[in-house]
Amino acid sequence: MLRTPEPGQAAILTALCLRSKAVWGYDEAFMAACRPALTVTADDWMQSDIQIAVQDDDIVGMAQVLYHGEIADLDKLFVDPAALGGGIGRRLFEWSVETALRKGAKVMTVDADPGAADFYRRLGAVDDGVVASVIPGRFLPRLKLDLTSVR
Ligand SMILES: CC(C)(COP(=O)(O)OP(=O)(O)OC[C@H]1O[C@@H](n2cnc3c(N)ncnc32)[C@H](O)[C@@H]1OP(=O)(O)O)[C@@H](O)C(=O)NCCC(=O)NCCS
Repeated sequence: MLRTPEPGQAAILTALCLRSKAVWGYDEAFMAACRPALTVTADDWMQSDIQIAVQDDDIVGMAQVLYHGEIADLDKLFVDPAALGGGIGRRLFEWSVETALRKGAKVMTVDADPGAADFYRRLGAVDDGVVASVIPGRFLPRLKLDLTSVR
């Protein structure tokens, strides 16, 4: 079930993002460098759309979409490690697309973890170059989905 979370749940969502990111086997230093980008704060509720997936009262996934004019940026999409492979990522991605469309966005971009890039390609996104990561010297695949072709 998808729901809009409350700002009071920000710390729980940050913990989920960090837990989820760690599935790719990154070391402590890498995870510490990622922490600011994966921290959810109450301000995020004013600047973006956020959705959680809930199973048996547990939060098992979250997505966050930011907007820059007609570009929607899928800033976060994280599934709890215990719930991977069960369709939650797809459901949250579909919510992100629907929400971006409602906001009038024409394209959705995502700067993907390399391990997740094929997931986005599977769901219809195409490669659009690379972007610098928060880790100096590291680059991430940027993918985009043309929202005008979705409807
Ligand atoms: C990437 C992620 C969100 C996918 O979520 P998920 O709930 O496991 O994915 P789903 O079960 O909805 O999978 C949907 C489809 O994508 C495929 N898929 C899922 N993860 C994949 C991956 N890493 N690589 C390739 N294909 C993948 C599934 O096999 C499924 O395909 P199907 O339609 O043929 O059955 C999840 O692995 C995750 O949270 N990873 C860790 C954090 C992360 O890197 N997040 C993304 C940040 S950019």
